[in-house]
Amino acid sequence: MNTNPKTPSATRFSADYNLRRHPFALASGEKKQRNYIIMGAGGHGAVVADILRASGKVVLGFLDDGIPVGTKVLGAKVFGKLERCADFPEAVFIIGVGDNAIRKKIAQTYTVEYGQAIHPSAIIGEAAEIGLGTVVMANSIINPRTKIGGHCIINTSASIDHDNNLGNFVHVSPGAVSGGDVSIAEGTHVGIGAVLKNGISICSGTVIGAGAVVVKNITEPGTYIGLPAARI
Ligand SMILES: CC(C)(COP(=O)(O)OP(=O)(O)OC[C@H]1O[C@@H](n2cnc3c(N)ncnc32)[C@H](O)[C@@H]1OP(=O)(O)O)[C@@H](O)C(=O)NCCC(=O)NCCS
Repeated sequence: MNTNPKTPSATRFSADYNLRRHPFALASGEKKQRNYIIMGAGGHGAVVADILRASGKVVLGFLDDGIPVGTKVLGAKVFGKLERCADFPEAVFIIGVGDNAIRKKIAQTYTVEYGQAIHPSAIIGEAAEIGLGTVVMANSIINPRTKIGGHCIINTSASIDHDNNLGNFVHVSPGAVSGGDVSIAEGTHVGIGAVLKNGISICSGTVIGAGAVVVKNITEPGTYIGLPAARI
């Protein structure tokens, strides 16, 4: 149900609409109710649980290497370490870890069925594609023909314009904005409130600091801050 009176319901994300655009979701049996397990029971994992519930999914519980068995997170239990994922062959998994490198390591270590967590308030444009394992948070916008890789995080109120291309394991932080035709290579972290000018490319191994304004291609890995963004 569209709860935001300012936004026409036709432009809001719905599970059905997503399935039509993402055949892999159909193949993985998303049409029937599945139980989700979140790998990572920290703050980001809790947000993932909230998103899954908001989109009508069932959160079975969490796995975490550092949080004691039995700990409750938003009412759902930590079952044990990540290696216990094999004990839940019927479940769909999301890696609820904000750090891009750790998320990648977990995805490479554990071969399970990864799903998506997409908040119902996210706006996803026509012909946009979103990879498995990706989390799209509340009030974010992904405009038409943008491709988002697997295990990405599109954080709260991030705005990604048309024809962007995001590699796997990218994190676009809350309130960050990219113009049209932006490419962001694998593993990049775009900080809170950063701005990416339309048409630019950002290479892998890059961190864009909070509030930075990137106006040119970034071809050297590193950390970039300020306006215009410069390497530190
Ligand atoms: C850019 C960033 C990665 C640098 O982290 P760091 O290497 O630990 O750097 P420090 O915090 O030690 O800061 C080093 C210097 O840069 C400055 N600085 C840090 N981040 C800055 C930013 N985003 N813009 C401008 N200056 C910044 C600090 O004030 C400090 O200046 P000083 O040496 O004059 O005191 C980090 O500050 C940042 O912006 N991370 C993004 C956070 C984010 O978006 N998180 C999302 C969570 S959902």
